[in-house]
Amino acid sequence: MSFRTIEWRDDTVIMIDQTRLPGAEIYNTYSDFQSIAEAIKGMIIRGAPAIGVAAAMGVALGSRSIIADTHESFFRQLDNICEVLGRTRPTAVNLFWAIERMKRVAEKNRGGTLDTIRDALKKEAIRIEKEDLTICKNIGKWGATLIPEGATVLTHCNAGGLATAGYGTALGVIRAAHEAGKKIQVFADETRPWLQGARLTAWELMKEGIPTTLIADNMAGFFMSRGEITCCVVGADRIAANGDTANKIGTYSVAVLAKENNIPFYVAAPVSTLDLTLADGSKIPIEERPYSEVTHIKGIAIAPAGIRVRNPSFDVTPARYITAIITENGIVKGDYRSGLRKISGT
Ligand code: MRU
Repeated sequence: MSFRTIEWRDDTVIMIDQTRLPGAEIYNTYSDFQSIAEAIKGMIIRGAPAIGVAAAMGVALGSRSIIADTHESFFRQLDNICEVLGRTRPTAVNLFWAIERMKRVAEKNRGGTLDTIRDALKKEAIRIEKEDLTICKNIGKWGATLIPEGATVLTHCNAGGLATAGYGTALGVIRAAHEAGKKIQVFADETRPWLQGARLTAWELMKEGIPTTLIADNMAGFFMSRGEITCCVVGADRIAANGDTANKIGTYSVAVLAKENNIPFYVAAPVSTLDLTLADGSKIPIEERPYSEVTHIKGIAIAPAGIRVRNPSFDVTPARYITAIITENGIVKGDYRSGLRKISGT
């Protein structure tokens, strides 16, 4: 891939600024955990797995700035860093998964010096990033088997290299099918209000030379009803034990339209996106973002001042609309409750 989403370099964190794409390819450098938290909140970095990597690197970075005489003081401050990072975005479970993993590493090294703990945290954050790339490639390998030769694949939002450490989940499936030599094309929903599809997915896929057509969100049904879409592949922010899946707002509508038109609807996500503590999707916290994302585009008002607005950033697609869930460990179909448990090794 010709860009890096996030990387640890010389004890700083470098991220491509996703708020500036596709107009400008700018890399920001972060040297404290507070600015990493702001970057996650402000969507400089977004997408469930990428948020997880950023949070892990934020914990590692934060641990380096802790001044403490005792281990108790160090761990108290580390807890505070984790809390600040954990308050950034509520829906993607990968954020909390990564923070917990970092906490466990710190705890495991409690017997060592503070520098040993800091070093272990840095190594773990880099490991999470590297693992994510391998995981996405494996998701791609499994998922590509579901994409027929000549397929037109519809995707929503951006579940690509930009949303992960690289390669992507839904776009990983598309990339892998393309790399396997299948002649496929993509329809990318623009994904109002934040335009991840128009700004990020279209940018990524064009760079890769994968034929892509951009459509407004309300056009998906039109193309499905005309037989122009072979299948849908989307990412996920949190998958409950029964397979109900939270993903970018509008995913539910795509899934219902797919069912109506007998089109397979696939979710591609790493096992770290599973939240088996939730029986179903009704308890998944849904982030509501600023109203200005709906009323303004690039600072220009597109609605009358004072209009009442709602802006949920995610919705939950009930499992019954999902044909299969593609993970790095394999594909789950049918009985999600037992299938997801098995695939996650729990
Ligand atoms: O608000 P965002 O851009 O973070 O939402 C991203 C999505 O909904 C993605 O589809 C999801 O995180 C999967 S990314 C591999």
